[in-house]
Amino acid sequence: MNVLGINTSPRELSNVKIALEAALDAASAKGAETEIVDVNKLTITPCQGDNYCKEHDSECALNDDMQDIYQKIEEADGIILASPIYFCDVNAQAKLVIDRLYSYFMNPKYAELFSNKKVSIIATNGAAPLEAFEGSLNTQMAAFEVLGFKTGDIINLDDNNVPGAINDKEEQLQKARDLGENLI
Ligand SMILES: Cc1cc2nc3c(=O)[nH]c(=O)nc-3n(C[C@H](O)[C@H](O)[C@H](O)COP(=O)(O)O)c2cc1C
Repeated sequence: MNVLGINTSPRELSNVKIALEAALDAASAKGAETEIVDVNKLTITPCQGDNYCKEHDSECALNDDMQDIYQKIEEADGIILASPIYFCDVNAQAKLVIDRLYSYFMNPKYAELFSNKKVSIIATNGAAPLEAFEGSLNTQMAAFEVLGFKTGDIINLDDNNVPGAINDKEEQLQKARDLGENLI
């Protein structure tokens, strides 16, 4: 069992990455192999909407670091998307990855492959509680659902403006661990 963590925070001591690591540690304790990709360190071009993928069995024409992520997603059994909330939604780095998954849209071969893979989402934010972002996070999850993935947990962990603040929030870290365990 492989679990891929996709961290989209650009910050050092990122709260959402700390929560992601807690989730992956819990998955690892149940026997999973885990890996994190740090999207902000990669070069990922926005989807150009050229529909090249529709004529080429989901192959994307853009030859950048997303090609590695495609491969890791195809090999993973579970995926955790970890994003800070920026203006009431996932950040641009997360949306870059999600939009590029359009290459798989409407391809029954990949829908079948993904039907065995669960996706969960972890978000952290500064102020408001989960309810404020529930709609946005459900919308991002819907992108994975439409591609055929199974729906996992969605958690948002609030009051995390200060880098590393989440390290003092055992209850939040436990929610992240629970999410990781539920993937296995
Ligand atoms: C551009 C930007 C927009 C943000 N928008 C929101 C927001 O709409 N609501 C909120 O509660 N926090 C907002 N925040 C705060 C972050 O969500 C919060 O600091 C988060 O925990 C950062 O995650 P990280 O430590 O993993 O980078 C925003 C921060 C930035 C930089």
